[in-house]
Amino acid sequence: MSPISSPTRTYKIAPSILSADFARLGEEVRAVIAAGADLIHFDVMDYHYVPNLTIGPMVCAAIKPHVGTTPIDVHLMVKPVDAIIPEFAKAGANIISFHPEASEHVDRTIALIRECGCKPGLVFNPATPLSYLDYTLDKLDLVLIMSVNPGFGGQKFIDGVLPKITEVRRRIEASGRDVLLEVDGGVKIDNIAKVAAAGADTFVAGSAIYGAEDYAAAISAMREALG
Ligand code: DX5
Ligand code: ZN
Repeated sequence: MSPISSPTRTYKIAPSILSADFARLGEEVRAVIAAGADLIHFDVMDYHYVPNLTIGPMVCAAIKPHVGTTPIDVHLMVKPVDAIIPEFAKAGANIISFHPEASEHVDRTIALIRECGCKPGLVFNPATPLSYLDYTLDKLDLVLIMSVNPGFGGQKFIDGVLPKITEVRRRIEASGRDVLLEVDGGVKIDNIAKVAAAGADTFVAGSAIYGAEDYAAAISAMREALG
């Protein structure tokens, strides 16, 4: 499949607070926003759907006063998923994404996110087939392609997902709808350009931003690489 390049596409950088200093979370959120973040990516792990345990709606509510108008992009890696969605909506989430394997009724979960006033996203693990998009893309505001297996920050980008990103871009263009195509896992300054060339417009980066000495320099370097 040939890569797609769109000179008119606007790119969004979404730092993942998974790699932030949790003891200073409010400050860390403000710092990446001041450094140019477009979204705050919020990774929720339950030690059941994924082998790690992180943060929930209380922490989302705690950071909300620190984000200003920057949207909170909640990535749910929890199973079951429905009961926690209204809690995140109340806590100030703007986008809520979930994994289809974690929901018994994918269409119902998408509708629930919308009813709660949030934008719904569907997440694809490296081995999850895109067939889940066949009957859902017309209801989604975001498709999230995992470029690592979910559960931990700091893993290596899996190149095998690049053609998958291109296929999602093709489906979004065919739909004529405005759907964000986000990529999550192992995105760095030195590979972000190829992820964009494959068709992504929104880039999650945890360790590449929070692991950097200077957050603004890291985000600027990413934007420079995007051209
Ligand atoms: C992994 C999480 C990612 C993670 C990305 O399950 O969904 O958002 O924080 O971290 P990096 O950018 O370090 O791979
Ligand atoms: Zn994530």
